[in-house]
Amino acid sequence: MPLARSLSVTSLSGLEEWDEEFDREDAVLFEIAWEVANKVGGIYTVIQTKARLTCEEWGENYFLVGPYMESSVRTQVELIEPCNATLRRTIDKMNSSGCKVYFGRWLIEGSPYVILLDVGFTAWSLDRWKIELWENFSIGVPWFDREANDAVLFGFLTAWLLGEYAAQCDEPPHIVAHFHEWLAGLGLVLCRQRQLPVATIFTTHATLLGRYLCAGSVDFYNKLAEFNVDKEAGDRQIYHRYCLERAAARCAHVFTTVSQITAIEAEHLLKRKPDIVTPNGLNVKKFSAMHEFQNLHAQSKARIQEFVRGHFYGHLDFNLDKTVFLFIAGRYEFSNKGADIFLEALARLNYLLRVNHSEVTIIAFFIMPARTNNFNVETLKGQAVRKQLWDTAQTVKERFGKKLYESLLVGQLPDVSKMLDKEDFTMMKRAIFATQRQCLPPICTHNMLEDSSDPILNCIRRIGLFNSAQDRVKVIFHPEFLSSTSPLLPVDYEEFVRGCHLGVFPSYYEPWGYTPAECTVMGIPSVSTNLSGFGCFMEEHIADPSAYGIYILDRRYRGVDESCNQLTSFLFQFCQQSRRQRIIQRNRTERLSDLLDWRYLGRYYVSARHMALAKAFPDTYIYEPQEPTSATGFRYPRPASVPPSPAHSLHSSPHHSEAEDEEEPYDEDLEVEKDRVNIRQPFNLPNRNKNQTVGLPEKN
Ligand code: UDP
Ligand code: G6P
Ligand code: GLC
Repeated sequence: MPLARSLSVTSLSGLEEWDEEFDREDAVLFEIAWEVANKVGGIYTVIQTKARLTCEEWGENYFLVGPYMESSVRTQVELIEPCNATLRRTIDKMNSSGCKVYFGRWLIEGSPYVILLDVGFTAWSLDRWKIELWENFSIGVPWFDREANDAVLFGFLTAWLLGEYAAQCDEPPHIVAHFHEWLAGLGLVLCRQRQLPVATIFTTHATLLGRYLCAGSVDFYNKLAEFNVDKEAGDRQIYHRYCLERAAARCAHVFTTVSQITAIEAEHLLKRKPDIVTPNGLNVKKFSAMHEFQNLHAQSKARIQEFVRGHFYGHLDFNLDKTVFLFIAGRYEFSNKGADIFLEALARLNYLLRVNHSEVTIIAFFIMPARTNNFNVETLKGQAVRKQLWDTAQTVKERFGKKLYESLLVGQLPDVSKMLDKEDFTMMKRAIFATQRQCLPPICTHNMLEDSSDPILNCIRRIGLFNSAQDRVKVIFHPEFLSSTSPLLPVDYEEFVRGCHLGVFPSYYEPWGYTPAECTVMGIPSVSTNLSGFGCFMEEHIADPSAYGIYILDRRYRGVDESCNQLTSFLFQFCQQSRRQRIIQRNRTERLSDLLDWRYLGRYYVSARHMALAKAFPDTYIYEPQEPTSATGFRYPRPASVPPSPAHSLHSSPHHSEAEDEEEPYDEDLEVEKDRVNIRQPFNLPNRNKNQTVGLPEKN
């Protein structure tokens, strides 16, 4: 039966929402990833944020398939009976054959159904399946690679599930199975080998070789076409993983990746050009706080400031109201994520702020999980001291208030000299004595297991940013993802981002990069690069990204040192902005949210599924590529004027303070009129002492 399709185009704040409807017949969609209900990195964010839209589209016919992880299931999944008879029969059959398959609802927006496969429970089949893998595909997985062993178990179980489901259907089914990343890829390969009635899609979120090669000192982007991929994979002992990944990419009916830059990489390293690029979106409703987002920034910032008060106890010789919070967050891949050049730029910024006698203090947070042995004592003590000072102040305040009240009751004004007695002073002196400290405020909040070889700590040792009083740039390394239940910094990641001023993500290898995208929808400016999928996407869609608080670092055509200078320049300019300018910039940043909404970007997933259905079931489905709509080439125009310039903003009054900035109501158009100086002010960087320079790999 030919495919019935209708197109309707609706407007979405200047973007066109592409609402393609098609008759899916009885099609069922399975989306398979190791990160389903299992938080690892950005792929979890893709699946979790997209769920609502996909549920709206596929309703009861949408199932996410992931590994069973007891701790996540306890907090995120409601286990229930399978929702239909076919699935119940499928799961019963597998469970009676030695598997443990769970069914439930993932408690996120959209409440999608999840099928969770306990890979550990089927570990007894590992050897048998590995032999099958070797005999049929000549891929040998070594015993010591735990992740690859999991991939084998997960792959065979997924293929079993899909095969069993197809067998249990009364009518020949139309199944779409969308596999994410190499860890889930083997299921796809087996579906094709077993000739299951499944339309397959494989999305790679990064290539294995790309990640590994970039982490070394290789001129990756210039040599893409020259790598001997088998040798490179073999040298890094990931040949078996690479084979699984490449087989999935090759076997898929439709192959996709998350950005143009990764599409080129995939073409060279996986030897297949993606059929379509599926950029990552966000569920913008979740983040959109409308006009409240500025208030949320102030509230969250107050919580970070509280933490900082404790962390720097005894050394609070800087003005918190003139302190700017920067952060980098994500998987701990030191040079891939650009933590190396961020640190180098911070060292240069420190110098610039000092020689310019700036009143601004920078606190740069590094949120990157590493192996630790809990929080360190000094950090916990900091929060305890802060709490003690707070409690002391409250006690004295209460005693003061009581005396004041008693005096007023008898119609007398209090004798101020008697309001605080000796006991109060003793208590306060004791509290002040407790704030004395023999050491500098710690860089790292945790006890690191590999302290002496840790790249961030070693780099800090080399550049000498030790949180001393003279430093205008302070550093805090939190080697664990944030959580609202932390005894140290009890905020979740979203709240933390909202409270910061600028996210800094100067990645060298970043197929997409959710962290700057999340900043954008929360109205927080960020730095990304023209080597990240996100950075390139924003460059393509915004006429003047920096005017919107999207600073895109050039890491493509510049050497490392030049990129460091450019980053230092961005940071220095950012620190010179007044509060008013930061508020205006946040408003502009937040305006870009729609561009990153799944409502707009979900269309690419829709196309990929149509394409796969048409390839796998040509008698039932036809795929006609869409003519590019005007939305494809959509660009946010340059704002009415240049961005608010930090140093040379023409103010209505010649002498103004931050306090005035705060109080004066602002009108963006009016402000824009006043700010007519280009933000890209050139400035000279100092020649740093050679010994102080971070040794960066020669990449360009
Ligand atoms: N993230 C988090 N908690 C943190 C820090 C980061 O949940 O404390 C999340 C962040 O929200 C983002 C993901 O980690 O969605 C990182 O994704 P990205 O695509 O930037 O990088 P990846 O780690 O996948 O390479
Ligand atoms: C938001 C709040 C303001 C606050 C400001 C602080 O805009 O609505 O009340 O003054 O944040 O901005 P800053 O960039 O200094 O953290
Ligand atoms: C990968 C990439 C990251 C991307 C994420 C989601 O982990 O490293 O850049 O944002 O997948 O696609």
